[in-house]
Amino acid sequence: MNWKLQASVLSAALLIAAPAAFGDAAELYGKSCASCHGKDGKGDSVMGKKSKARDYTTAEGQKWTDEEGVKAILEGKEKMKGYKEKVTEAEAKELVAYIRKFKK
Ligand code: HEC
Repeated sequence: MNWKLQASVLSAALLIAAPAAFGDAAELYGKSCASCHGKDGKGDSVMGKKSKARDYTTAEGQKWTDEEGVKAILEGKEKMKGYKEKVTEAEAKELVAYIRKFKK
């Protein structure tokens, strides 16, 4: 196999491995949510403090159900706007699962 062919096989493999349009929950969270909730879920960023986001690393901060979480992401809650136009219900569920992992 010459190097050119190898290169095209490699780039084809990379294309297949690329994530779907949505990317993954971690990427979306970093882009759209970390500004308030913080990269580590603490909510201690400037925006997080201003909007009074909870600390998701504590049991207290996680005191909401998955259903409430999905609803908050899609329809918004307090200072947080809803993401219905950008995020599907399945993605909202993935984001909730991602946020749950902040609590050690
Ligand atoms: C403008 C700041 C802001 C942004 C951006 C933001 N949130 Fe929020 N979020 C809040 C606030 C404020 C609340 C309600 C207060 C609270 O209870 O933490 C909240 C509530 C929530 C809740 C409900 C649980 C709870 O704490 O009451 C979830 C789940 C959530 N956000 C996830 C997300 C996700 C996922 C994103 C990104 C798609 C996001 N948030 C973006 C500020 C924000």
